[in-house]
Amino acid sequence: MILMVCLGNICRSPLAEGIMNEKIRKYNLKAATDSAGTAAYHVGEIPDPRSIEVAQKNSIDITYQRARRFSREDFNRFDRIYAMDESNYYDLISMARNEEEKSKVEMILNVINPGENASVPDPYYGGTDGFDKVFAMLDNACEKIASDLATMNH
Ligand code: 4NP
Repeated sequence: MILMVCLGNICRSPLAEGIMNEKIRKYNLKAATDSAGTAAYHVGEIPDPRSIEVAQKNSIDITYQRARRFSREDFNRFDRIYAMDESNYYDLISMARNEEEKSKVEMILNVINPGENASVPDPYYGGTDGFDKVFAMLDNACEKIASDLATMNH
């Protein structure tokens, strides 16, 4: 079980969830994905219209998603927890109750550039081109996560 985490759960992590679902289908993986936010501002809301639009352009539907806040319970339910940026990462680490929970948390772009701790930029206050960039970054990372899982399952 894979959890994608950002701040609001309306821009970046809903895209990551939608893209990851697509990769799970593509590679026929026995995996599932979900997303959550570290903040409660947007709980219950559908994704940002700009995220819905960039997903739709790439034939991915994310309109079924509703924002929720990350909870400590998620450390029990998920094997891997991917943070979109450094601030999400440290929020998650500070909520972890032990080393095993901490070890589940990784910055998503480290799957492409291990150890670099690069962040997926928060596109909320920018224009729509920010969402195209975020989509491309997440597509790249999710492709790597899924293809690695497919190789492990062989
Ligand atoms: P997200 O983007 O963390 O990618 O969902 C944001 C959404 C809302 C806010 C910040 C970031 N906000 O401050 O309301």
